[in-house]
Amino acid sequence: MWNIEEIKKDVKENLSDYRYNHSLRVMEEASSLAKHYHASESEILKCELCGLTHDLCKELSPLENEKIIKEYNLPKELLLKENKNIVHGFIASVIVKEKYNFTDNMVLAIRYHTTGYPNMDLLGKIVYLADKIEKGKNYPGIIEERSLAYKNIDEAIILCLNNQIKNLKEKNKTINPKAYETLRYLQEES
Ligand SMILES: [Fe+2]
Repeated sequence: MWNIEEIKKDVKENLSDYRYNHSLRVMEEASSLAKHYHASESEILKCELCGLTHDLCKELSPLENEKIIKEYNLPKELLLKENKNIVHGFIASVIVKEKYNFTDNMVLAIRYHTTGYPNMDLLGKIVYLADKIEKGKNYPGIIEERSLAYKNIDEAIILCLNNQIKNLKEKNKTINPKAYETLRYLQEES
């Protein structure tokens, strides 16, 4: 079993400084959210590890992506242009399982860190949010997202998803159906 320092070293070797620093900030944000929501020690560690590794495969070439998708029997649709923003989560999710022996809920949190997923657990919620609100991010709406993240985690995800969808629409980009599914699930829950 790898420890967090070894995983940090491995993540650093696989990413640019820019993205490695983002990963460290997501790890810190995930840790403080987990503590804020009274997660257990082992859950806090899982949040930190997922924050640290969620973008592990974001800098792979299209050819490397294709190779992993075939090797691990991931959906071929991931190669389509409209899935460009979600493919790195799927790929990282199979790699972290094989490489670091991450648990199934860690795999899910990483796989869906860009959209969330219906029935997501606290770990999935924290990884999704930490990626959006880590201290290096600065975009319209983030102040409200940050403060809501520490007040009502579900409401914060709803706000982030709505902002994300609005932003993609404005740029004429495709919205992944999973984002709508997550939104519907959380709205029905709250
Ligand atoms: Fe990220």
